[in-house]
Amino acid sequence: MEGLKDKVVVVAGASSGIGAASAHKLAKHGANVVVADISDDGARATAEAIMSSGGSAIPFRFDVTDESTIVALIAHVVETYGQIDGLHYNVADVALTPKDTNLLDIDPADWERMLRVNLTGLFLTMRQVIPHMLKQGGGAIVNTSSAAAFSGEPNIPAYASSKAGMNALTRHVASAYGRQGVRCNAIAPGAIATEGALAVVNVMGADKDEWYGRVRETLAHSHRDGEPEDVASLAAFLMSDEGSWINGQCISVDGGWLFR
Ligand SMILES: NC(=O)c1ccc[n+]([C@@H]2O[C@H](COP(=O)([O-])OP(=O)(O)OC[C@H]3O[C@@H](n4cnc5c(N)ncnc54)[C@H](O)[C@@H]3O)[C@@H](O)[C@H]2O)c1
Repeated sequence: MEGLKDKVVVVAGASSGIGAASAHKLAKHGANVVVADISDDGARATAEAIMSSGGSAIPFRFDVTDESTIVALIAHVVETYGQIDGLHYNVADVALTPKDTNLLDIDPADWERMLRVNLTGLFLTMRQVIPHMLKQGGGAIVNTSSAAAFSGEPNIPAYASSKAGMNALTRHVASAYGRQGVRCNAIAPGAIATEGALAVVNVMGADKDEWYGRVRETLAHSHRDGEPEDVASLAAFLMSDEGSWINGQCISVDGGWLFR
């Protein structure tokens, strides 16, 4: 991929899992990556790992539930690099999942928290990023959605709703700003054994092998399990110039779980 060289890309939620893999992939293809996360140590660790393998990265601590930190993040990026070409939004409160039970049992405060982090956080972050993209003639946004936005499950109503909302917001941005050069796409991963996902699986009483076994037998149509890099590869392509005629899509990376 040539079309990422020297671009400035913020990966939000990049201390671990899919976001960290995306940050590495983008840097490998020549992007300057801003590793933004609520975990200061995690953001630093990802940025240091990228730099020690010859890439360009800086860490930044922010919390999507605190708008002033989103403003500070984007101001810092523009001050440091003079531009912002891409945003990959990965942030999700994965740890809330065991409390995201069903419509009748979920605590409304947990419902609000899930939507605040996964969806309102995206809304607020894009409001800071897009004016800069419009000023400089364009940019690319990639949002990590989920198969759960489409699949219909007896549990995780808040998570699924937040991701369905993300897909709608993705299409809104694509249609509102596409003609001015801003592209916005989403990726809907299936089950990927990140540390965050496995912590939830463990809390819910399964282990990695059981979980992946179930995914392999009942959901995915693939000979192997999914990895964070599978999502990162598509994110890098969508972010690059090679992906520049793709806009407003939500593309599944799920080993053939959802056929749409
Ligand atoms: N792993 C899967 O199976 C799977 C499947 C579908 C979708 N996804 C989505 O992929 C994305 C990444 O998930 P993951 O599995 O890598 O888990 P993860 O927990 O490793 O990633 C989430 C990241 O968001 C950060 N974060 C959480 N709250 C934050 C806040 N308030 N402000 C800033 N950062 C915050 C976390 O520190 C973490 O780095 C999420 O959006 C998730 O919903 C994951």
